[in-house]
Amino acid sequence: MRIVCLSDTHDVFRDLRVPDGDLLLHGGDLSRKGRVDELLASAEWLRGLSHRHKIVIGGNHDFCLEQQDARELLSGLTYLQDQSVEVGGLRIFGSPWSPAHGVWAFQAERGEAIRRRWDAIPEGTDLLITHGPPRGILDRHVSGVHLGCQDLADRVAQIAPKLHLFGHVHESHGWIQGESTLSVNACNCSYGYKRIQPAIVVDWLGGRFQVQAIVYDLQGAELTRVAPRMVSVNMEPGY
Ligand SMILES: [Fe+2]
Repeated sequence: MRIVCLSDTHDVFRDLRVPDGDLLLHGGDLSRKGRVDELLASAEWLRGLSHRHKIVIGGNHDFCLEQQDARELLSGLTYLQDQSVEVGGLRIFGSPWSPAHGVWAFQAERGEAIRRRWDAIPEGTDLLITHGPPRGILDRHVSGVHLGCQDLADRVAQIAPKLHLFGHVHESHGWIQGESTLSVNACNCSYGYKRIQPAIVVDWLGGRFQVQAIVYDLQGAELTRVAPRMVSVNMEPGY
């Protein structure tokens, strides 16, 4: 099964080339300003992709998704908000929360409040999607500060999902294979919203993963398959 990981596509999705696959996972921030028209445009784009299953969560920019009626605009996609779904025998749980850091959507204070959110991740979860990273894993802000959530890191260590996909910290795009969990920061938008970072493709080989980032040129031709930290594609000057 080919799993294509996206996150933080904000308003740059039109320039992002998405590899085909079986299962598309999106780690939130479908919008830039949280408006319904942005959500609609992103939903239409996602519906047009070829993947049989498409699973999305909200992010801290997606204010409109805090309202039930906006979630209904995501027809044809599987929207998870502290919920699970099973695809191809893999149990997938999605959650939009991130530690409070200003006036944003789906915020919970670090400590007890956010711990309650992570307690909802069921034992036996195979693929975990959260908007924010766990502390210490692909969570480094450009300032050098680790922005991730320690309580999420603790819960992930307990649950030991096979794959943990997240976004939020744009400048830490990449992946790390841990002892039991493959962590993927799938942010497609760079720090400063200037460049596109490639989709990360995870092939589930029924017991292990193979991971790669597939980079395309501006005409959509495949350039190379590389560790994503080494490359990002300049879409156009001053983008
Ligand atoms: Fe973002």
